[in-house]
Amino acid sequence: MLRGRRVLLCVTGGVAAYKSAYLARRLLEAGAVVRVEMTDSALEFVGSQTFAAITGESPFTSLFDTVLVSPHTELARWADLVVVAPATAATLGRIANGISEDLVTATVLATTVPVLLAPAMHTEMWEHPATVRNLETLREFGYHVVGPEEGPLAGGDVGPGRVAEPEEILAAASGILAREGRGRKILITAGGTREPVDPVRFLGNRSSGKMGHAIADAAVVRGYDVTLVTTADLPVHPATKVIRVETAEEMLGAVEGTDPEIAILAAAVADFRPADTAESKIPRADGLSSIELASTPDILASVVGRAIPPFTVGFAAETGGLERAKEKARRKNVDLMVYNDVTEPGSGFGTDTNRVAFIDRDGAVEELPLLAKREVAERILDRVAAAVDGQG
Ligand code: CTP
Repeated sequence: MLRGRRVLLCVTGGVAAYKSAYLARRLLEAGAVVRVEMTDSALEFVGSQTFAAITGESPFTSLFDTVLVSPHTELARWADLVVVAPATAATLGRIANGISEDLVTATVLATTVPVLLAPAMHTEMWEHPATVRNLETLREFGYHVVGPEEGPLAGGDVGPGRVAEPEEILAAASGILAREGRGRKILITAGGTREPVDPVRFLGNRSSGKMGHAIADAAVVRGYDVTLVTTADLPVHPATKVIRVETAEEMLGAVEGTDPEIAILAAAVADFRPADTAESKIPRADGLSSIELASTPDILASVVGRAIPPFTVGFAAETGGLERAKEKARRKNVDLMVYNDVTEPGSGFGTDTNRVAFIDRDGAVEELPLLAKREVAERILDRVAAAVDGQG
């Protein structure tokens, strides 16, 4: 998986920096093209000449004093993968808080490719609430983390905080690149549709769009070409093609304009809409005893019914149990159904977590524990990659 891939190895200031010299060698042996960035603190521990001798190119050490006009953005775009090893507590804190103080943090902020962090620090620093919180934030942003391990630390201490071994970092790097989107087109629908009664009122549902947006963010980081058709007013990764819609009809129109290899339909599409939409606000005094409803288009059916359908993932947000979801998976003819019981605490609409089960074409079920929606998104994309590429 590393053959021919461009790995930017960022070395920050810890004694574990010496191990990154060996990591650079192992990455090269695995066929990767390696360039190196070092912070001033890293240079206190290892000489740049060590990395120059291994990679054949002097490391980049400054945002300014360099042959490149804009090293952070140029290297950020050059890389297929950024590995920060060792990643100090200070570096993790800066990245988590968007502070681009040196070449490494500026590059990490500027890149859209996957980033693998290998933390290394003393146990007390690793366990400090600030570090714990920063790690949580970094994981939410979609950064990958490998280690740290437990073992001897600088100064004779022992405990968790020791940087992951080069072989482990190599395996993690290879795993990340194996799950990449490589520019494949992926369509994601998100949010609940709003079906207007009049210019002010609508029929809607409780879907927040968080799950679909989490999938879109994770897919962008994996290098997919992402089109997100959404009703939700949530932030998106700048590399996402966003089509904002409101109604099922508009969502169908947007979906019809796409030709993806993979479709993940996470939107909660209204099944019914008001048959007529009033052109001006219906005055209270006029009264409204009933609303006549008409069916909305089945977007999923239109996708699955294409001459060459994409690999299609459907969602079954249910109150009716797993058996009903299995029946729905068959009926809807999807490649993968993501089931969740919306009545369960921490699961479903508006929450930041979700407990889902995957149902595949054969009816085989994999139940996942309660996870952050971002983590659920990663698991869905892992299943998609495994099915589409035969990769695990
Ligand atoms: N879906 C869709 N278009 C619709 C309705 C649903 O694309 N008009 C998609 C959803 O995005 C989801 C899947 O179909 O991926 C299942 O949605 P759900 O609302 O559970 O399906 P329904 O057909 O409404 O099933 P039921 O009313 O029987 O629960």
